[in-house]
Amino acid sequence: MTPYILVTGGTGFIGSLTTVSLLEAGHNVLILDNLSNSSPSVLDAIEKITGKRPDFIQGDIRDAALLADLFSRYSIQAVMHFAGLKAVGESVQFPLRYYDNNVHGSVQLLQAMQAANVRTFIFSSSATVYGDPKFLPLTEDHPLSTTNPYGHSKLMVEEILQNLYKSEDGWRIACLRYFNPVGAHPSGLIGEAPQGIPNNLMPYVAQVAVGERAQLSVFGDDYDTPDGTGVRDYIHVMDLAEGHLAALNYCLENDSELLAVNLGTGTGYSVLDMISAFERSSQRRIAYQIAPRRPGDIASCWADTSFARKKLGWTASSGIQKMCDDAWRWQCHAAATKNG
Ligand code: NAD
Ligand code: UD1
Repeated sequence: MTPYILVTGGTGFIGSLTTVSLLEAGHNVLILDNLSNSSPSVLDAIEKITGKRPDFIQGDIRDAALLADLFSRYSIQAVMHFAGLKAVGESVQFPLRYYDNNVHGSVQLLQAMQAANVRTFIFSSSATVYGDPKFLPLTEDHPLSTTNPYGHSKLMVEEILQNLYKSEDGWRIACLRYFNPVGAHPSGLIGEAPQGIPNNLMPYVAQVAVGERAQLSVFGDDYDTPDGTGVRDYIHVMDLAEGHLAALNYCLENDSELLAVNLGTGTGYSVLDMISAFERSSQRRIAYQIAPRRPGDIASCWADTSFARKKLGWTASSGIQKMCDDAWRWQCHAAATKNG
């Protein structure tokens, strides 16, 4: 039987859409998720899209006994590790939660892998590990620094992975540094479903468009950027999912490897660019006001994508209009489901 890819956090936003890509590529998938930020209904959507239902275990990556049992029952070829907490502001308020979940949780998972002799690991890192860019575009050898516990937890896990890689043979590890993942599955059946008030730009914009929120606050219009608003490298989540497949294939084809790779498009867009694109997709006006800068925000950030292209043979293909079209389809679906 084809061995499984274990996807931690596989009912979440990026994990569920990567599961879709894995299933479509013929892999067997086992999801481990504690459902702290997702719903099991995502499994139905995955099945509807792919015609296959991934195996699912509701549980926590910090549960060593559960992990040992899982690795003994399933033949696992590789682990894609998405599970974790991701809200920057919350991480400043509750740092121990972030170190426990993101760092201790990753260590527990790696220990269980080591015991089971599974040594292929794809890690959800973030462009946040570059801190305030000293130059653009950001190459993978840009100095690393962080300004908040969330970012620090990602950098710590990257460092732990370097130590582990050096300590014994056979590890094949890819740290994927995501830029700003947005969009949804083109069917509109799976997308980002933030709990409460969205922290990130695009979910907020989508909720204004659908009428769930009155207006967007644009955090600062006095940055040193073409229109004064913050510039980011937005990447379609389906491109990101394909990037994971490329990294997995690369790792499986090599005996031993430790990679850190940017997953971005290489192009930056401003907040106002994104608002305009979403207005075109939704055919609605997005009301906004200019507000003070958000503490901790940087002016601009975009990826150098040449290493991903050279090493993994992967490049992002969707532009911002497709990202907004798909996010809008998902937002309409989510609103219709909520309203019965
Ligand atoms: P998400 O919250 O939608 O998905 C994370 C999933 O992990 C959720 O389903 C949650 O229930 C689960 N989870 C959390 N803690 C767990 C635990 N201890 N045990 C088991 N399951 C647990 O987030 P996402 O946007 O899909 O992000 C996935 C990963 O990518 C995260 O590690 C995140 O830090 C990283 N990342 C995300 C972004 C982004 O903008 N979304 C950017 C860079 C990096
Ligand atoms: C944020 C996190 C980053 C994380 C990423 C993806 C911070 C400081 N950084 O990145 O660590 O990896 O999310 O989860 O939180 N904006 C508005 N109004 C809003 C929301 C955002 O104008 O209501 C602006 C921001 O100022 C920024 C841009 O939109 O210029 C993108 O913001 P956001 O989507 O939160 O992503 P990042 O700040 O890039």
